[in-house]
Amino acid sequence: MENNYYKTALRKAEEYREKNMPLILGIESSCDETAAAVIRGGREVVSTAVHTQIPIHRLYGGVVPEIASRSHTERMGGVVREALDRANMSLDDMDAIAVTYRPGLIGALLVGVSYAKGLAYASGLPLIGVDHITGHIAANYLTYPELEPPFMCIVASGGHSHIVKVNSYTEFDLIGRTRDDAAGEAFDKVARAMGLPYPGGPELEKLARDGNPEKYKLHTAFNEGESFDFSFSGIKTAVVNILHNAEQKGEEVNRADVAASFQRAVVDALAKKSVRAARQAGLSTLALAGGVSANTALRERLSEECERFGIRFCRPDMKYCTDNAAMIACQGHYEIMTREPDELSLDPNAASFLQMQ
Ligand code: KG4
Ligand code: ZN
Repeated sequence: MENNYYKTALRKAEEYREKNMPLILGIESSCDETAAAVIRGGREVVSTAVHTQIPIHRLYGGVVPEIASRSHTERMGGVVREALDRANMSLDDMDAIAVTYRPGLIGALLVGVSYAKGLAYASGLPLIGVDHITGHIAANYLTYPELEPPFMCIVASGGHSHIVKVNSYTEFDLIGRTRDDAAGEAFDKVARAMGLPYPGGPELEKLARDGNPEKYKLHTAFNEGESFDFSFSGIKTAVVNILHNAEQKGEEVNRADVAASFQRAVVDALAKKSVRAARQAGLSTLALAGGVSANTALRERLSEECERFGIRFCRPDMKYCTDNAAMIACQGHYEIMTREPDELSLDPNAASFLQMQ
């Protein structure tokens, strides 16, 4: 039975490559967003649908994996239906299905992967598993229709902070990564220590707007060094110590100053290292990706640094910065153009392929 499916999928994958403007359905469920999207010809967003679980997890101060899986299970069918309805299309109109299969919360990934497999099996459509990190990178293709590899990319999300050399649509070299916390994770943990709600990144950014970023020097020797790796846990601990010490002494701290100084230290590290990586590799474009790419201070800082060195700076539209399925469908398109589709034995994996490098 399954072999019959795969034969059909191989044939339809071939048809996908030959079509002028093929349609691909993208599905995303790696963390706390249930999302689906329809993309035409790789880069044209026909429709999107997202159900965010943020209000549920906010009650607990962070993502509760079991609750995330349950919510994905409840919502997945409706979200896929919504994306197809908004496109005025049905599954019969699709030419392929892309799904995030790594990295992320394993139970959450399992929901999207199982759903996508079911749809693929029922329709005979080719199934393409997409690495979420490469999806974040592809969000830039949706924003810049003419952007093509090679370029350098700084990926900063809740789970990852990587400098990635994008050699082609499907070939990547890991240049640097965090040794401890991801940038978004550090934002979330510091925000939590300051009593801000989940997800802390956007809240901390808001607070930082009224603060003095020069007030506290939170830079670490590691991030000033030659390596392209990052370390954010030292900066996080320094903030927690400032808050603690003030509390013990009964002193008031200006929380906006703390937030601004923390943000400055993280933005400095991400910007300096990624621009240096682009220059050293002789690449004329640097792209930003991942949830933290929504941070205005980071966008502005990278834009300035890139301008200084004559590098073109790309960053996704705000709506494609955090988790969404349009970016997954876009990367899925490029995968299917270069390799055979996945079999129905496709398994989710908690780690990114970049962590294997
Ligand atoms: O990419 P994403 O939606 O999910 C993962 O793949 O992890 O990233 C979510 C992360 C969270 O840590 C969130 O706090 C952070 O991105 N984030 C921000 C901002 N918006 C989202 N961090 C700093 N400033 C923001 N404006
Ligand atoms: Zn993400």
